[in-house]
Amino acid sequence: MDARNGPAARDAPGSWRLPTATGEYVVGVAASGAGLVLLHWGAPGEAPPPLRTESTNVLTPADVEPLEYAVLGTRHVQRSELVADLGDGLVGALLRLEGRPDVERSGTAHMLTARLVEPTGTLAVRLVVATDQAHDVVRKHVVVENVSTDRTIALSRVFSGAFDLPVGPGAGVALLAGGWATEFTPMTAALPAGELSIGSRTGLTGHLYAPVVTVQRLGAGPDDEAFGVALAWSGSWRLSVDAVPHRGAVRVSAGVDDESTVVTLLPGERFVTPELLGVRSPHGPGGVSRRWHAFQRRALSRTTGPEHRPVVYNSWYATGFDVRPEHQARLADVAHDLGVEAFVVDDGWFAGRAGDHAGLGDWWPDPSTFPDGLGPLVDAVHPRMRFGLWVEPECVNPDSDLFRAHPDWVYRAGDRPLVTIRNQYVLDLGRPEVEAYLEDVLRTLLAERRITFLKWDMNRPVTDGGRPGDPHGRQWSVQHTRAYYRLMATLRRDFPHVTVEACSSGGGRVDNAVLALSDVVWTSDQTAPRARLAIQHGFLTAYPASTMSSWVTDHDDHGDDPCSFEFRFVVAMAGVLGIGADLLRWHPARRTRARGLVALHKRVRRTVHTGVVVPYGQPRDPYYALVFAAPDGGQAVVLAYARPSARGQLRVPVTGLDPRARYRLGHDGSVLSGRELATGVVVPFALAPDADVVVLDRVDR
Ligand code: DGJ
Repeated sequence: MDARNGPAARDAPGSWRLPTATGEYVVGVAASGAGLVLLHWGAPGEAPPPLRTESTNVLTPADVEPLEYAVLGTRHVQRSELVADLGDGLVGALLRLEGRPDVERSGTAHMLTARLVEPTGTLAVRLVVATDQAHDVVRKHVVVENVSTDRTIALSRVFSGAFDLPVGPGAGVALLAGGWATEFTPMTAALPAGELSIGSRTGLTGHLYAPVVTVQRLGAGPDDEAFGVALAWSGSWRLSVDAVPHRGAVRVSAGVDDESTVVTLLPGERFVTPELLGVRSPHGPGGVSRRWHAFQRRALSRTTGPEHRPVVYNSWYATGFDVRPEHQARLADVAHDLGVEAFVVDDGWFAGRAGDHAGLGDWWPDPSTFPDGLGPLVDAVHPRMRFGLWVEPECVNPDSDLFRAHPDWVYRAGDRPLVTIRNQYVLDLGRPEVEAYLEDVLRTLLAERRITFLKWDMNRPVTDGGRPGDPHGRQWSVQHTRAYYRLMATLRRDFPHVTVEACSSGGGRVDNAVLALSDVVWTSDQTAPRARLAIQHGFLTAYPASTMSSWVTDHDDHGDDPCSFEFRFVVAMAGVLGIGADLLRWHPARRTRARGLVALHKRVRRTVHTGVVVPYGQPRDPYYALVFAAPDGGQAVVLAYARPSARGQLRVPVTGLDPRARYRLGHDGSVLSGRELATGVVVPFALAPDADVVVLDRVDR
């Protein structure tokens, strides 16, 4: 690290500048002594507006300042990110900045740290703000430390940080909400004043809300300045948008859930929060999405290429729990013929798993259906395709050898009855012996080096976490999540050839932390094509296409407008295409058609997975499209969808191309310039009346 102290060469005195790809985040010292304040977030060199720090007769200075991190007891009227009980009978704590912030630079990365201390020597907080010129996201976290020798500190709220957004008074907030099979539904809230709080108490990111919001001023348009804030965390969490009446800034803060979690710090202990992420775009919510995607691809994903996003065949919708090796091998034959690259056996392959009532925990092939182990089935798949398995390591059925041997390994709230959901309990990953056992399970499974794809599922909320008598029992969700991360990190480190698909009853555990440890996520159990398209539309506002698993299944339209076979494929092509249908029931003509569509996906996937995506319209509109432009401008791809009510021509503007470059249209060979394409390309709906893929390849360089 090229470490240095003090402000950067171009920093104004008393300010610290953290550059991003297109802007900068500038902090300074709070006049009140309460820590650091945000001075400017935007284009480099713009004069920041004067900081309003005057107190009134109902506010203290620390309540008015845009503090980077606010502590109850230091700030008194407005919301704080840290609520600490120092065991002294007082409310909160008074913290003061110690010394000056420090900025380290390494390549394109900048990291600012500052330390706040409590004068009686009990509590210290290290603030960390990091940027990188490779993307536009500002990353924050804090480290809270009990520096006493004799006190126990209880943190009833220990959020990761906050962003003071200059959009007030009030805010327009966009969020992604839903439930099982309706994840990522875009919703908006106008918040003239008050607090909007979303989160999860279930030990998982959850289906109800994605931990991400987009914030604009009230009444802003789609091209006006917008901010995104996201929490990179997969356990219980909370995010608050606080619009204080008449205040010019709206504060968005987030962290581990402050209702179901209390973090305890014994003398000398530290708590490192998850990361809070923020991004600003002058180009509206669409600009925010594109900046999230750039960050996720450059800073989180290990690759964006096909090596970790193969065309998957997944058995779940075809065979359910009825997994028999000869049957799977016959499916594999057809899958290979269609161009599938990885054959993944979902739930149902392990000991005792005839249904969802038994087997979880016993991670070896069921001896009655696989008398010779997995070997013969792997032989039937490999090396024509990669072989993969489904696992749900965190859960156990009462009817399993694991539970019979270790009934004490599951979460249970003291003497309260065990809570069973989907006939299963959750293993207490806060116990080191459980984590060690699961690591061993994974290593044993993956000792078969031909298993190169793992789908990691988690099918129930965690309830009744904690361990009676354990001083850290009230932070079970933190312990569980960290153990999950360590296990996922072990896979990535020691089994780099294994592609990991994260899943939780569909999209119940999708967030920026999971994206950093998995390759793709199973977006939703909803595979009815039009409903799926709507889910994917929401997903793509916060997460990139390169992580979005999407399978073509036999599911029908669920009462929505009917759609063609091709439509299903074009839906899946918007992400990482897979097939989950019963291929043995597909007649030869359908298989031939599917082979061509898989080949089409392979032709466009690099652009879809690495390009900039711009949606055109809404999935419920008569026409809807997704326009992908390759980063080097070499290819653009339009995925277009129509409803039976669609009338007239669909002309989709293709932006992001070199205006002077010339592009050949795949379907008719005509050549158009980037400038012409920006005014629109007519979608011929040649593939099917309701779906099309327009491919534009650059013909001159
Ligand atoms: C839920 C997942 O979302 C499905 O894809 C499937 O893997 C089932 N679990 C298996 O139990």
